[in-house]
Amino acid sequence: MDTKTLMEWSAKYHTPNYGRTPLVLVRGEGTRVWDSDNREYLDFTTGIAVTGLGHCHPVITGAIREAAATLLHVSNIFHNAPQVHLAKLLVEHSFADRVFFCNSGAEANEAALKVVRKYAKEHLATDRYEVIATNNSFHGRTLATVSATGQPKYHHGFEPLMPGFKHVPYNDLRAMERAMDSHTAAILVEPIQGEGGVNIPDDGYLPGLRKLCDESGALLVFDEVQTGVGRTGKLWAYEHSGVEPDVMTLAKALANGIPIGAMLCREHVASALTAGSHGSTFAGSAFVTSVALATMTTVIGDKLPDKAATRGRELVEGLREMQRRLPIIKEIRGRGLLIGVELTKAAGPVMDACRDAGLLVLTAGEKVVRLAPPLIVEPSECQRALKILGDALAAAK
Ligand SMILES: Cc1ncc(COP(=O)(O)O)c(C=O)c1O
Repeated sequence: MDTKTLMEWSAKYHTPNYGRTPLVLVRGEGTRVWDSDNREYLDFTTGIAVTGLGHCHPVITGAIREAAATLLHVSNIFHNAPQVHLAKLLVEHSFADRVFFCNSGAEANEAALKVVRKYAKEHLATDRYEVIATNNSFHGRTLATVSATGQPKYHHGFEPLMPGFKHVPYNDLRAMERAMDSHTAAILVEPIQGEGGVNIPDDGYLPGLRKLCDESGALLVFDEVQTGVGRTGKLWAYEHSGVEPDVMTLAKALANGIPIGAMLCREHVASALTAGSHGSTFAGSAFVTSVALATMTTVIGDKLPDKAATRGRELVEGLREMQRRLPIIKEIRGRGLLIGVELTKAAGPVMDACRDAGLLVLTAGEKVVRLAPPLIVEPSECQRALKILGDALAAAK
């Protein structure tokens, strides 16, 4: 089928909720993807921080083949071995004692919201149900997670939103402290805001939130759906802060593109999820957890968080050089391979110019170009990406 017809059918048959780039991608390998006209692109989007090991990594392709030929799905009324091994590995490499599997980031956050409510009701007070989240956050598109999301543009038309949420400015401990009261069950934050513009809080922010939670009994929930699995130069972004949460949510990169989510928590929190209180049909299938196990084993075994930290530093250095000659660059924010380049103008046209020159990048909000290459990206690929981005920014001046 020709590209034009495919795009016409896409526009005709899909619900119109995605603003799509006019490309049909057909093949990928490592950091590169090809479109239906066989044009090659450097992929610095990774499916929005999903394919951390790059496209069609041989270990992942092998794990998919083997899992598909062994056991796809059995209900969670049975045990399955890869699910157990994955939970054990996640626990051994994080703060957590227990893991609940699901299918997406929104579902992981739904699980977190449900567990903090149940925990607070049962262990703190029956009227402690409120979750305080932050402005510019992003936590998902289900009714509860969009209510938790601190960006009104995602709320429009879907009101009334779910009750039980408050929002305060990100990186503002005083505002958080003022918002907390006898109804507060939990604080929910991203350790670095991704969709909101790659916003990195001050060093004292996450430790300050930990202290507020410890003093009040509220639970601290870190949404690491975008920042987890090595992207920021540590396996989990909270490791940069020196404090640990009570609950952490994951998805995106956990199985390198096969849908999965996970809610990790401490023992006392997990005890609220008594048998039958929560669940999901597809969650933690033998298939997806086999692929996630291969992903996590590779990320940890190949020390990819360290590589992400090194490549990220090199990219930021290159961007800072660029900033000296291009006043369109207002600010560069990044940790590991999650990098935001804030512009003085709209980022959309720069993204389009990069695409036309063979580089796929993301935006985050109106004026931020977001770079999220795979953790396996090569220095030469970073240099090529910098050249294309530099040219696009120079032309946008
Ligand atoms: C921090 C964060 N939380 C939650 C989500 C929602 O994940 P999903 O789209 O898998 O539901 C996202 C998606 O971008 C995210 O960045």
